[in-house]
Amino acid sequence: MSEAAAQKAESAGGLRRVGLSGLKLAQFRNYAALSLRLGPEPVVLTGPNGAGKTNLLEAVSFLSPGRGLRRARLTEIARHPGDGTWAVAATLCDPDGETELGTGIALSPEGPERQRSVRVNRAPAPSSQALLDLCRVVWLTPAMDGLFTGAASDRRRFLDRLVLALDPTHGERVNAYERAMRSRNRLFEEGRTDARWFSAIEAQMAELAVAVAAARRECISLLEGAIAAQPVDGPFPAAVISVDGTVETMLAGATATEVEDRVQADLAAGRHADRAAGRARSGPHLSDLVVVHGPKAAPAAECSTGEQKALLIGIVLAHARLTAQLTGDTPIILLDEVAAHLDAARRAALFGILLDLGAQVWMTGTEPAPFSALGGQAQFFRVEDAMVTPADA
Ligand SMILES: Nc1ncnc2c1ncn2[C@@H]1O[C@H](COP(=O)(O)OP(=O)(O)O)[C@@H](O)[C@H]1O
Ligand SMILES: [Mg+2]
Repeated sequence: MSEAAAQKAESAGGLRRVGLSGLKLAQFRNYAALSLRLGPEPVVLTGPNGAGKTNLLEAVSFLSPGRGLRRARLTEIARHPGDGTWAVAATLCDPDGETELGTGIALSPEGPERQRSVRVNRAPAPSSQALLDLCRVVWLTPAMDGLFTGAASDRRRFLDRLVLALDPTHGERVNAYERAMRSRNRLFEEGRTDARWFSAIEAQMAELAVAVAAARRECISLLEGAIAAQPVDGPFPAAVISVDGTVETMLAGATATEVEDRVQADLAAGRHADRAAGRARSGPHLSDLVVVHGPKAAPAAECSTGEQKALLIGIVLAHARLTAQLTGDTPIILLDEVAAHLDAARRAALFGILLDLGAQVWMTGTEPAPFSALGGQAQFFRVEDAMVTPADA
């Protein structure tokens, strides 16, 4: 890396500026092949509907563990028509230099692989979790507009992604809890009654349930602080957030060990009813994220569509700032179709916050006009029919 590039990677506010300096796609969604060179500044992608803007953001979201910003099945991602393989290759740039990240589906003798693999500097990584050591990617998409009125499972997943950005081991813990829970459900299904088997699984479930719930509580408490640190008269209303869950609530009034014992005892006592239901009727797999519009003291679900969006933007920005503070690195922020729905004052405030943070934020819109205030401070691209070309502000 050149010295100039290294200097640019040192950000305002003592944060290490982490962003992509290159992105290549092969057989990804509507892209047969794409190669982009990038600077550390915000990236603005404009073009007609269906051009491939969200697909580009989705590609970047695969530089984080999980199913990406669309929660897609892996088979949807490979370009049609094609052989089912796809690849995303990114050059990650930070003050220490560049790292080559690769992910995608390769071809095995039996056909496309069933899991996406991850490579770091061309060496296979044991899991996609390794990506969290290198960068944090956070996003906000139009699909999240119904978050406050929709299913609790979506809010819980949203919360768990917020936790994951702060605590990379959270994802594995949630998965391990769910695996243990499924094993217990299987015992019910198979009509087993051996108490020792149940006790062993329930001990595991209780330990993991407490770890998951404690990590969520910690994240909520840190996020509350980050939200409180934003100016009261800011452009996005302060959210009052909490987590509604049995184990999370128990942790408010007892030590982790006490709660673990109680959860394990409750599971044992609930075996009979759980068997009838075919599943565990309480636990962190049923928790919900509760959001209240602070200034109005109204539940988020009762707010107008615009107010809900503003609340969500406020939460995502506070979380991005918190992630930056805790890791010392700027996160990569993906904001799909956010700017066009804000009035000029809020949009200017959003850009100000993002530029202040120094993060590489990727923003999309059909028209460049809403982004004109970013002229000279962002890199503009025109996206049309899976072709991406540099454009003027
Ligand atoms: N697996 C795929 N193979 C080929 N094209 C795809 C695939 N998945 C999505 N597309 C196409 O990508 C386009 C949508 O791209 P998208 O990035 O969502 O557009 P926008 O620019 O509006 O955000 C659609 O035309 C869709 O048909
Ligand atoms: Mg789109």
